[in-house]
Amino acid sequence: MASEVQGDHIAKVIRAAIENDTPTLEKCIDQYSFSDCKVVDVQDPETGFSPLHAVISSCRSSVNGNGIKKSDHEDAASSTIRFLLENGAIWNQLDNNDETPGCLAYRLGLLNLYQLMVDAGVRAEMILSRLEEYERMEDEEGDNGEDGQKEPKEEEENVPGNDQLDSMETEDSVVELDGAEQQDVNTSAYLSSTLSLSSNKLLDDQQNGVMMAWESGIMRQSADNLLTAPELRILNIGFGMGIIDSHIQDNPNKPARHYIVEAHPDVLKDMESKGWMSKTGVEVHRGRWQDVLPELAADGETFDAIYFDTFAESYSEFREFFTEHVMALLDQSGRWSFFNGMGADRQISYDVYQKVVEMDLFEAGFEVDWEDVELPKFDQEWEGVRRKYWNIDHYRLPVCKFMD
Ligand SMILES: C[S@@+](CC[C@H](N)C(=O)[O-])C[C@H]1O[C@@H](n2cnc3c(N)ncnc32)[C@H](O)[C@@H]1O
Repeated sequence: MASEVQGDHIAKVIRAAIENDTPTLEKCIDQYSFSDCKVVDVQDPETGFSPLHAVISSCRSSVNGNGIKKSDHEDAASSTIRFLLENGAIWNQLDNNDETPGCLAYRLGLLNLYQLMVDAGVRAEMILSRLEEYERMEDEEGDNGEDGQKEPKEEEENVPGNDQLDSMETEDSVVELDGAEQQDVNTSAYLSSTLSLSSNKLLDDQQNGVMMAWESGIMRQSADNLLTAPELRILNIGFGMGIIDSHIQDNPNKPARHYIVEAHPDVLKDMESKGWMSKTGVEVHRGRWQDVLPELAADGETFDAIYFDTFAESYSEFREFFTEHVMALLDQSGRWSFFNGMGADRQISYDVYQKVVEMDLFEAGFEVDWEDVELPKFDQEWEGVRRKYWNIDHYRLPVCKFMD
């Protein structure tokens, strides 16, 4: 009986969303409560549609003509979407077709609605990343308490924006830099795993793709964008298959000095066997960039160009890289770039992360130019790889500089 009532309530919420009936939605929010989610996050049992999916999907029928002008319907849908988001609706809830509301809007070509969902994702991810920052700072403060005692954490309610955090899928929001949301791969597990290298890919022991040969065009263009003149000093973090390092060595603008930082023992062994340790002008630094870069900075080293492409690291580590280390190591007129694979398993995550990183770069004092790189169509490349971490047609190649 209770589940019947619950089913009726879900149907009413979804119907109100489809009809852009915000007064009814408001009433439902006031009157109903569900044990496992908020009213604005209920899901239709058949389609998995949340109210956000339902609003967006309803614009599909207006495309076919139901007496309401398409633009009027989309305007009404925009207001309902705003209403749902203001009431804490999750921006990246998945339906039974594995689509977020934004994916659905993108597929249906509803670009204004798609943009609303991208903006919602950016807001959610920015809050999440700031919260992680607060937590990290609190942990550090706790560790360094004056009396040497670890201090208790503040109550969560005191953290700004925490009410909004409740509405997010926090776990799913952690996007790996290499494009895969491989939550089961963490740095220490990766660094102690046995790697297998073939001619077209480097895999870890769980068959996760660490690096793949199809990325060669991206690597070549990245090297070209960084080596704007001969005799520069360049630093590359993450050797992988050595693709970018080979492009750097073969570039017409051959660098004067080429530093490589690499942490994985199997990759280092491979580098040794291929003669990288004794190449003229090349200096290989063994270890994690987190340990190596402070030493380089302490030695007074600076670079004209830096490239960053690691594996199984979180966004906050990347942020730490550019806010603390690029600052110290990049020449004032230098340029730097990174493998832009964040959120690349679906278009909306890719677009959200582009904005998030742009804002963080700006805050850290960098400007960024994006260059579109068309990618080859591929499928066979993924055979034997645990998870396809790339689902986007165009790669956006970043080139970052200090702001003038
Ligand atoms: C995606 S691959 C780099 C691919 C490379 N850009 C290429 O063109 O072949 C990532 C590399 O970063 C290394 N790596 C991961 N975490 C690291 C860390 N914290 N410090 C240094 N290297 C790291 C991995 O062992 C791996 O070799």
